[in-house]
Amino acid sequence: MKLTRLLAVLICAGVTGVVPACAGEGDVEAVSGATLDIEEIPVLQDQESTDVLVVWFSPNDTIRAAAAIAAEALDADLFEILPEVPYTAEDLNYSDDSSRATTEQRDETARPAIASLPEDLAPYRTILLGYPIWWGQAPRILYTFLESVDLSGKTVIPFCTSGSSSAGSSAVNLQNLTDDTVTWAEAKRLDNGSGADAIRDWANSLMADKEESGMQMRINDTPVNVVWEENKSVAAIRELAGNENGLTVQMSMYGGFEQVGPIGSQIVSNDEQTVTGPGDIVLYSGDQIVVFYGSNSWSYTRLGHITDPDASALEELLGNGDVTITIEP
Ligand SMILES: Cc1cc2nc3c(=O)[nH]c(=O)nc-3n(C[C@H](O)[C@H](O)[C@H](O)COP(=O)(O)O)c2cc1C
Repeated sequence: MKLTRLLAVLICAGVTGVVPACAGEGDVEAVSGATLDIEEIPVLQDQESTDVLVVWFSPNDTIRAAAAIAAEALDADLFEILPEVPYTAEDLNYSDDSSRATTEQRDETARPAIASLPEDLAPYRTILLGYPIWWGQAPRILYTFLESVDLSGKTVIPFCTSGSSSAGSSAVNLQNLTDDTVTWAEAKRLDNGSGADAIRDWANSLMADKEESGMQMRINDTPVNVVWEENKSVAAIRELAGNENGLTVQMSMYGGFEQVGPIGSQIVSNDEQTVTGPGDIVLYSGDQIVVFYGSNSWSYTRLGHITDPDASALEELLGNGDVTITIEP
């Protein structure tokens, strides 16, 4: 994926002035001045591999700074939503009742065009989505974005800045544009005056939540959602994945219903006769992982179950040639 990278630039955050009246939906409180207290946006390096993508829209650079700091803390990739037609200062003038931004926010059907979309979102499980509050809501270009990409099975963490308004219903209105397989976290409004440390703490707290939720697994480049068993075999795999900074297993298609591959060492097992179905992940003879897209009955130790994608998408993913699976702690 071609991702937008940032150079270190000094930031002049936010807009100044007071919003005098409500232009559209949502509660709009008085708006004042610059919002975050960040002096410098970090220079970001390409990441080796990551399943977190920070996406943002930030015509006045406040969210851009927060996005860069969060991305650095999370080792995330970056994608900036750039409008096909950039917003000028006049366009952003909320004191002007007929300015472009105000007019768009008033029009529920407005979908400002985006210059380019991300090439491939498949490697990402988690999307941080940053935007400024405009008239109590996310800018309409966020609507364009969400209607243009497929976020099925991913988790979206919305974050925003504003002069004074809360995130309000902005994220719920965005959530309504995505299907039920997308998990939305509660929107985070970064408080005015937040500095880089506060943003880093927030980003790290997201990572802590992620760690608690268990190991992450990918089939080739596609992240899959797994509910892991709580047993000694899973603990051993977590340790292997931790020691080796991710466990990569070359799998082979077998029998028209499974992919099987060696984990590279013998680990503790507790085999019993098991009927497996699509999505089941098991340990076979203590040293091989099996992932099913069909069914079988054999002596295995259960490791977990893939809850997303569903059975037919899994068959597509696993039934068309050998794959590589990656498990990260
Ligand atoms: C058109 C427009 C409308 C805005 N509406 C609100 C609002 O309803 N409530 C609020 O607190 N701030 C409002 N603001 C202020 C922005 O939310 C705030 O300055 C934000 O941090 C800007 O982010 P950015 O620098 O990334 O563009 C508005 C700003 C603009 C340009």
